[in-house]
Amino acid sequence: MENLSRRRALTLGVALGLAGAAAPVPAWASAGPAAGTAGTGALTEAGAGAAAGPGPEWIWDDAADPLMARMIEGGHVPAINRAWESWVNNNDPIPGGLPSDFAAYLTQVNRLPSWADQTKLARAADFNRRRDTYLFMLYGLGSGIMSTVIPREAKSVYWSAGGADMQDRAAKTFTFGYDLSELGAFKPTGQFVVTANKTRVVHAAVRHLLPQSPHWKAVADESIPISAADILVTFHSLGTYVHQKLLEWRIPYPAADQEAFLHMWQVAVHLLGVPYEHIPKTWAEALAQSRQVLTPVLSPSTEGIRLAEDLLGLTAQVDLGVTRGFLNEFVRYVLSDQVGDWLGLRRDYAAAALVRTAWPAFILFREGLSPVMPSTFYMFDQFIRALAMLFLNKGSSGTTTPITIPTGNRPG
Ligand code: HEM
Repeated sequence: MENLSRRRALTLGVALGLAGAAAPVPAWASAGPAAGTAGTGALTEAGAGAAAGPGPEWIWDDAADPLMARMIEGGHVPAINRAWESWVNNNDPIPGGLPSDFAAYLTQVNRLPSWADQTKLARAADFNRRRDTYLFMLYGLGSGIMSTVIPREAKSVYWSAGGADMQDRAAKTFTFGYDLSELGAFKPTGQFVVTANKTRVVHAAVRHLLPQSPHWKAVADESIPISAADILVTFHSLGTYVHQKLLEWRIPYPAADQEAFLHMWQVAVHLLGVPYEHIPKTWAEALAQSRQVLTPVLSPSTEGIRLAEDLLGLTAQVDLGVTRGFLNEFVRYVLSDQVGDWLGLRRDYAAAALVRTAWPAFILFREGLSPVMPSTFYMFDQFIRALAMLFLNKGSSGTTTPITIPTGNRPG
């Protein structure tokens, strides 16, 4: 992994909107190790009460990991995948046909934490609906491509079974975002609690499988992937990043919306198995943690560059109404030229100029802050819709992509 200097990390952080609004830095943040070593200890002191136990980089998933190791070794995974296909809504009964210890585990975890606040979750759902265009673009092109410059994530995704079919994987990840953003996501009739629990189990399976991959072992800087600290890093690339961009783009975003959006992410991260005490309690704390653990680790890797090319290349299959040059420049716009250079995104200076002037105009018009409809309005509109279709429907059929537990790794 490239060892970024603090200054370089800071510059990148500013570009990503992760270092801009100066939040008060809590005491634990300044006590962390220097930039460049995050992920190997930086989160140790994060979060109230965390100092008492091990840091999140030493926490994986005590409840799910040993269970999934047994399920994989016992050859139960294909049966589980079949049995849970019809398990979709939060209030669906735990399906039949599962090994009894697996069913007992699901019964135990398939619920909201006691501190979940339905009023805030309902507000978050409404916020997601009101802001879906921006959220979609930021998660899809911002967070999605950012994941390819988080080396640990890129390497594990690339060398796991799903890495071989990025369109399918991107669609599954979108299922998570889609279910999370649905109006009744956390209600009994919603689907997010189930989707999060399926994801938690997939992560547990990956922790058992990846250490058996000679390819992953050759490039990894850790012995077990997807620690609680890694999940928090990914949360910052999603929630914290989007939060900052909405502020930076001056989208109307009242305090109650901000609080609700954070709460939704706190519940989501907890459902993925991260203990409560390690989850940031305020956006200021999230931002400080993000500056400490996400910004310094961003760097290119062979795997990440390939994944980004796969992801952006998917769009060649459908007509997005824009050129690849435009897409490259949009990614540069939301993530920085440094990330664009790392990923080798070919420049298109005409498209760059267009994005930098037309996107802010598109926002102003959509928000009713300017009466002038930009001439590019329909182009952006079509671009957004086509991207949504591509990921949600895999470009063709309208079926959602089921999350399935892998039984092996990417062969090579
Ligand atoms: C699988 C979401 C954190 C690595 C998945 C899946 C979802 C998901 C929805 C299932 C879909 C699929 O199989 O592709 C998330 C979210 C995270 C998070 C919301 C944090 C907020 C991480 C981290 C890593 C990681 C930190 C690694 C450092 C993987 C891998 C798979 C996976 C390797 C399996 C892909 C396969 O099937 O081969 N994740 N994830 N995830 N995730 Fe995560």
